[in-house]
Amino acid sequence: MKLGTCYFPEHWPQEMWAEDVRRMREMGLSLVRIGEFAWSRIEPEPGRFEWEWLDRAIDTLAAEGLRIILCTPTATPPKWLVDRMPDMLAVDAEGRPRRFGSRRHYCFSHQGYRAQSRRIITALAKRYGRHDAIVAWQTDNEYGCHDTVLSFSDSAAAGFRVWCLNRYGTIEALNEAWGNVFWSMEYASFEAIDPPNLTVTEANPAHWLDYRRFASDEVVRFNREQADILRELSPDRDITHNFMGFFTEFDHHAVGRDLDVATWDSYPLGFLEQFWFDDATKRAYLRQGHPDIAAFHHDLYRGTTAGGRWAVMEQQPGPVNWARFNPAPLPGMVALWTLEAYAHGAEFVGYFRWRQAPFAQEQMHAGLLRPDSSEAEAAPEARAAAKALDTLGEAEPVKAQAALVFSYEAAWVCGIQPQAKSFRYLELVFEWYSALRRQGLDVDIVSPQADLSRYAMVLVPSLPILPGGFVERLSKLTAPILIGPRTGSKTASFAIPDELAPGELRALMPLTVTRVESLRDGVRLEAGDGSIARWREDVETSEMAELSASTGGVVYRRARTRYIAGWPDARLLDQLVARMAREAGVALTTLPEGLRLRRTARHLLAFNYCDTPINTAGIGPGAPLIGKTVIPPAGYAVWRRP
Ligand code: GAL
Repeated sequence: MKLGTCYFPEHWPQEMWAEDVRRMREMGLSLVRIGEFAWSRIEPEPGRFEWEWLDRAIDTLAAEGLRIILCTPTATPPKWLVDRMPDMLAVDAEGRPRRFGSRRHYCFSHQGYRAQSRRIITALAKRYGRHDAIVAWQTDNEYGCHDTVLSFSDSAAAGFRVWCLNRYGTIEALNEAWGNVFWSMEYASFEAIDPPNLTVTEANPAHWLDYRRFASDEVVRFNREQADILRELSPDRDITHNFMGFFTEFDHHAVGRDLDVATWDSYPLGFLEQFWFDDATKRAYLRQGHPDIAAFHHDLYRGTTAGGRWAVMEQQPGPVNWARFNPAPLPGMVALWTLEAYAHGAEFVGYFRWRQAPFAQEQMHAGLLRPDSSEAEAAPEARAAAKALDTLGEAEPVKAQAALVFSYEAAWVCGIQPQAKSFRYLELVFEWYSALRRQGLDVDIVSPQADLSRYAMVLVPSLPILPGGFVERLSKLTAPILIGPRTGSKTASFAIPDELAPGELRALMPLTVTRVESLRDGVRLEAGDGSIARWREDVETSEMAELSASTGGVVYRRARTRYIAGWPDARLLDQLVARMAREAGVALTTLPEGLRLRRTARHLLAFNYCDTPINTAGIGPGAPLIGKTVIPPAGYAVWRRP
């Protein structure tokens, strides 16, 4: 695994570049990402390109032997372009244009912007596509960041009408599929359809789901247009895009089909602060991040490309600027995060950013260097990580024991019709993932289309719409399967299936969900060793009950398939994972709070996410190769596997 950094040569005087690059090398870095926001410097006026500075920047990096990931600059169209085409701006759900002055101010559906994006990429790829030092391209930057997947512009409305025509063929078919008779919502033609925003009360959920599918398809198409040009003009270079954390607004599995390497931007402390975790968890892991945040995304994004290739494009090096509170990582965390990415199979980790910028929006965001070029706290940690990686050599991946099925469409369905404020799909999947990791398992998070046949255990936290062929594939498995609430509860056009939930899944589990209820925060129903909360289903079946709560059945089972008719807590999940592991003959390790494991073919790695030491005696095989049996806070240990 290589180490790298995100560098913005255009932010610094040219006299600084050679010394910067020398210091990168000295720190153990060998990859540098550049260019993602540089459009105004590459093309200061329409059609007038200034290549000289970029030529020199690339040559300076290359001269020191650094390899370059060059980005397409389409996340930041310059002012002159917006002035020429004001309607290229995205429009928010309130109908307001998202104006120039920050970034990502474009609408994916604007054909004029799409043409401009192809033009600038073609120019860049023609100039640098065959440069020896350029090893990869990053398309755009963080699709969807700042809530930019959905746009409600005229261009998006026009694109959506065509999308609907292609999907349904006739307006009668669309009216039927959406159930538009319900409130006299019937349309006489595709031209009459608008985006689902600004309606008096909620718009039809089927309308929303199709709008989300359409918006996701627009991201896929925009990315593919970029990838096609780059493949032609810059052969044999990898194409990547940097995905975000806890983000489901477009189908990453679909975008991933056009990438060689999926990358993502890892900011564990910011994510802990911004997402659903309770106060106690936020306090306990304030300077470390929840122990599953980084790993969850490593294992998720590995599953988005055909070859399973992935990396961390941006690694948090210190306090960030964008969360509600921005604590500093515990000493050791930057090295820990780096080694953990290695353990999960990353091809590289890039630190964001090389030097903290003293100006503009992100001046409060740490880098490897401070604005005065002195080393920030992360720099020696990057050096230490580079040293450990030298000792360990390339990581050979092992097949994870457990597969966790993840669906972007499921996230949209639960978001459009949550039915309980607290029914958050991502949180559900994350909790199931945590349960597997708490007991020491390696996990692959995979799409519903993935081959599930080689896993010892398969878990489907929730899959309201069953994709074609999914039930047949599950039926062929011999591994224990755990299926969660709401699975099979909707048709592809967001209606309740004729035979009620779980729809086609009844081939595998002869039960019917006759009623669902959602529960206020704090209401818990005891079940087995744990409880359920948030969501509960009434189930009719003559053959399957396994575990009951005071209110009736909760877990149903036939052969190796289990269905859980509610939102399980951690203890109930642990119990279910233990039962499945026993059936599958998989050994579990009960880990102390905050300790996580990951195996490669040759090594076992353990990571201490606590702010206190953890004794790993009995967990690792003998004396560690790197680190100590008692792992200090924010430390790690590595053993050679027997
Ligand atoms: C990412 C983004 C970077 C930078 C960084 C700050 O979301 O790709 O450009 O803004 O966050 O943490």
